Amino acid sequence: MEIIQVNAASRPSRVYCGAGAAERYRELYAGAETFVVTDSNVYALYKERIAALFPSAAVCVFPAGERHKNRHSLFSVLDAMFAAQLHRRSVVVAFGGGVTGDMAGLAAALYMRGTRLVQVPTTLLAQVDSSVGGKTAIDYGGVKNAVGTFYQPETVLCDPAFLRTLPRRELVCGLGEILKTGVLDAAIGEKIEQNAARLRELSFLEEIAADCIRFKARVVAEDEREQGGARKCLNLGHTTGHALELAYGRRSHGAYVLIGMWLESFIAEREGVCSPDHARYVRRMVSLGMKRIPVFPQARGCVRYALLDKKNAEKGSVSLTLSSGRGAWREVSLPASAYAEYLARLEVRQ
Ligand SMILES: NC(=O)c1ccc[n+]([C@@H]2O[C@H](COP(=O)([O-])OP(=O)(O)OC[C@H]3O[C@@H](n4cnc5c(N)ncnc54)[C@H](O)[C@@H]3O)[C@@H](O)[C@H]2O)c1
Ligand SMILES: [Zn+2]
Repeated sequence: MEIIQVNAASRPSRVYCGAGAAERYRELYAGAETFVVTDSNVYALYKERIAALFPSAAVCVFPAGERHKNRHSLFSVLDAMFAAQLHRRSVVVAFGGGVTGDMAGLAAALYMRGTRLVQVPTTLLAQVDSSVGGKTAIDYGGVKNAVGTFYQPETVLCDPAFLRTLPRRELVCGLGEILKTGVLDAAIGEKIEQNAARLRELSFLEEIAADCIRFKARVVAEDEREQGGARKCLNLGHTTGHALELAYGRRSHGAYVLIGMWLESFIAEREGVCSPDHARYVRRMVSLGMKRIPVFPQARGCVRYALLDKKNAEKGSVSLTLSSGRGAWREVSLPASAYAEYLARLEVRQ
């Protein structure tokens, strides 16, 4: 089992990565009062496993799905935490995908100004991305992740065994973030290209997940709060991805990230940020996760969601993280009208 250290400025965390990681909880937190937060789907699948891993824990279950990453779920979790009379030394375990991790993480940060937090990610996306780095949030007022904070987990237990029950659609979701990391890190990109045929095999996903976590750990150590700049690279594909996700829903977060990366590769090329050759490389990476880009008949209208993005530096403009070469990126701000014209490319079949 590999242990990856995340040296975030506010608090270091440790990621246990590999088969049997979840079992480590018992020895790491022997005697600690434990409160597990999970969603209804995960609970249905893992009720017995949760009882075995966290024998005396209270378990709080909220309805599964992004649309429940909201204030009602957050306050129902906080209510249950008060009912269980947790204290600051109690351990909140976020057992589930990115929705559970983001919301339980926020509840842990808010309760009594902060309890201990352990992330047990059960989706590929949560394992390679959301459980590491300390971003917590709920969606609010139609804006994704609008209310949240940075709150590092003490420990992340990243166990590939959970991926065996994951539906295909959720696998693609995690692949989206893996392929994004491949564009951001030349060595990871090369490994993905060389193993394209194994991209959906659990053994390969386990290996590449550790690479993605090590990459994210480096970025978070450098720029925990997305202030110095380094962490902004993780937003590749996300400005467009989030805007489409808010407007259209249905598909997974990772699928929208891939669509965002695809469109933004054209923007990078046209804005002179990257060469046509590199833009084609980005689109090749995207195609490993998504064969065909869907049509969005009114894509231009999504500009209003992109304008709500908290990453925008100025009013009336849209900030994008664009890939400028293998392992290189640049932040670019476009007037809303110019960005809307680029979105129009999604209105026709590719
Ligand atoms: N905090 C961050 O840095 C960060 C980074 C990326 C994404 N996110 C957030 O993560 C969320 C997306 O995460 P997600 O894709 O994991 O979504 P999710 O948590 O909704 O999980 C997806 C679906 O899979 C189910 N599921 C979870 N584990 C399972 C398992 N082992 N077997 C079968 N089904 C399982 C869930 O019940 C759900 O229906 C978004 O809200 C996004 O904003 C946060
Ligand atoms: Zn993402």
